[in-house]
Amino acid sequence: MINPTALMECRPMSTLPDLHLKHIVLGLSGGIACYKSAELVRELVRAGATVQVVMTEAATQFITPVTMQALSNRSVYLSQWDARESNAMAHINLSREADAILVAPASADFIAKLAQGRADELLSLLCLARPVDRCPLLLAPAMNREMWAHPATQRNLVQVKTDGATVLGPAAGDQACGEIGDGRMLEADELRDELIAFFQPKLLAGRGVLVTAGPTFEAIDPVRGITNHSSGKMGFAVARAAAEAGARVTLVAGPVHLPTPRHVRRIDVSSAQQMYDAVLPLAAQHDIFVATAAVADWRPAAAGTHKLKKDGSGRPPTFELIENPDILATVARLPPAQRPWCVGFAAESHDLVRHAREKLQRKAVPLIVGNLGPATFGRDDNTLVLVDAAGEHELPAAPKLALARQLVREIAARHTPRPT
Ligand code: C5P
Repeated sequence: MINPTALMECRPMSTLPDLHLKHIVLGLSGGIACYKSAELVRELVRAGATVQVVMTEAATQFITPVTMQALSNRSVYLSQWDARESNAMAHINLSREADAILVAPASADFIAKLAQGRADELLSLLCLARPVDRCPLLLAPAMNREMWAHPATQRNLVQVKTDGATVLGPAAGDQACGEIGDGRMLEADELRDELIAFFQPKLLAGRGVLVTAGPTFEAIDPVRGITNHSSGKMGFAVARAAAEAGARVTLVAGPVHLPTPRHVRRIDVSSAQQMYDAVLPLAAQHDIFVATAAVADWRPAAAGTHKLKKDGSGRPPTFELIENPDILATVARLPPAQRPWCVGFAAESHDLVRHAREKLQRKAVPLIVGNLGPATFGRDDNTLVLVDAAGEHELPAAPKLALARQLVREIAARHTPRPT
């Protein structure tokens, strides 16, 4: 019989699911947000993790262990006295197997217990018993806004963070009680992404990364314009990968409908000139600039204020084009003290390496990333060729996010942070 796990082992690293081989203990304490934890289990399993659910007695008032068992495909632990453990030490066994413990929802009471180091039921007991240096603890608080804002809760949060826990969220918004404010548990997909990011190496910690992405739109008149097929997916993946690697990321995006990656500051623009105007003042505040945007080379010299109409002559209107400023080349020629380390992209239809190398020189940048434009526009996967002074290096076909993470590794290996 074919073993699907064995097949998975043969796949290249970059196409393995994001939480492949990760074993997560998912703890639920009492709160209405327990309903989101059902979806969270599915998200974690889809991302390749194995999930062992542990619930407090209060959590079982909100969602049944049967539901969590069915979704995780493992029977749920509810008690320290679980007869399945031959050594009667569920707290030790569970915390030694886990790559991480995620408590979602983490109630105000549960956080208070952790802050005091109390351990009177299985979940708090296994959090206390975990080896702090190899089993991280992540908490997704969920509570009413007044409980969240209470000085006791804020004091407890400072304490649990000091003791090594990572706090995810909470978000602000509508609450089950009808009030609006801070204290909503993050959504299942947000928690999944937080966990994935948590496991990424922090190769760009402390560095600022500025990214351009997407197409630009050059207006001809109020309803028409010149644009291109860039979807922005590669640039958004680069922004996400840089944020996962611990960088402070600013993303200047042309007109695309993509969600903003978590912890990324996004500035939306439309035209090449707007992108230039947004990027130039930001360049000196960042250490690295990655120009993935497919910036239009030309724009109409003057956009019509009214829609161009057919005049009945059968002759189309003519309009003059002028060249757009080259954002990457301008940033790459800033004085050294203001100049980030620049990475350009070359989307070509043929002779990829030759064009990329020519661009490396013309734009005076240390690294150009080549890809075949028509083959990648709009797709979720891509193939990249890195071209620099040392030579060429191909990153074979893979999802754009996997390639972006590899590119981040390549950038981190080449970029030396400025002395502070
Ligand atoms: O000149 P070309 O468009 O072929 O170069 C591509 C690279 O230059 C990409 O990194 C792109 O984001 C950047 N670029 C730019 N401003 C332009 C044109 C291209 O930043 N006006």
